[in-house]
Amino acid sequence: MEAVEILLRGDTLIFPTETVYGLGARFDHDQALRSVFEAKGRPADNPLILHVADASWVEEIADDISPRAHELMKMFWPGPLSLVLKKKDRVSHLISAGLPSVAVRCPSHPLARRLLQEVGVPVAAPSANPSGRPSPTREIDVLEMVGKVGGILLGGDCEVGLESTVLDLSGERALVLRPGAVTTEELKEFLPEVERYTGDPEKAPSPGLRYRHYAPDASVIVLRGSERAIRSFIVSSPKTSCFLLPFEWDLPFDQTRIIAFVPESDLEAAASQFYALLRDADKAGMKEIYVVEFPPEGIGEALTDRVWRASGGRVKTLEDA
Ligand code: TXA
Ligand code: MG
Repeated sequence: MEAVEILLRGDTLIFPTETVYGLGARFDHDQALRSVFEAKGRPADNPLILHVADASWVEEIADDISPRAHELMKMFWPGPLSLVLKKKDRVSHLISAGLPSVAVRCPSHPLARRLLQEVGVPVAAPSANPSGRPSPTREIDVLEMVGKVGGILLGGDCEVGLESTVLDLSGERALVLRPGAVTTEELKEFLPEVERYTGDPEKAPSPGLRYRHYAPDASVIVLRGSERAIRSFIVSSPKTSCFLLPFEWDLPFDQTRIIAFVPESDLEAAASQFYALLRDADKAGMKEIYVVEFPPEGIGEALTDRVWRASGGRVKTLEDA
């Protein structure tokens, strides 16, 4: 596979995973790692996740791997769970951004797995978006990076559509730093003491939490109110406003507006489309994207988190007339 050669020679490669597309570089090539930060415009203090073909590779990059870490790998790998562990010295400070830890994940996407097996070394890969933008989940999204990277391996749409769960096991407390498709509830079954990190983003143990994230050009605004109030708000809003609303709502379809209906009963579908909808709204010249809140159950936990971060905390509350 040409894609393997690109990574082996120390170039950068965009490749599909089950969560979002990643921008990869071999872990032991500082120049390739620097190119990743450069192509994304990523701050150097935000560390990268190392991708491995199977759990046996973790011994090469992490130390003090606890029995509970081994158990989680057995249960959830390959899949959308990144574990933060104590790093070994051979993991470049470029990857860990100076932290004593490293995040590791084993993706389940067949192309990612084959790629990692053939490359034979861990691959550092952040999401393949310019820093701060929504992560790419479709072929058309990564094609925007042509010219900035060594190559692009296309693999269709990403199934999950939101980035992996990041679970920090490197400290005394087991902390979910970023919710994802492996939910906090699921983790609790194996790790009853696990908690969601809810502290001050400025002091966040995950540097990525400090930055505004996943945001399109348009303003994302969380919309609260009854169906009735929201209906009249839509009718009176400018044509440059669009809405992400549950499919099940009984709304008269206003043809003059772009309205994305997301099935509330199928949160997996809503999650997999979320970033694509943000990107498409930008392309359609929308100025505001109003998003109703989703139930925070299952993948809804991660979806709520991403909606919240994309909005930067902006909320519009509608009173009933
Ligand atoms: O699903 C995913 O995880 C995707 C695909 C490509 O695998 N990758 C991804 O990487 O989302 P990135 O770089 O966009 O997000 C990694 C997140 C950031 O918030 C970063 O701060 C955090 O993981 N992280 C990485 N290493 C860490 C560490 N040692 N300690 C704490 N947080 C860490
Ligand atoms: Mg990212």
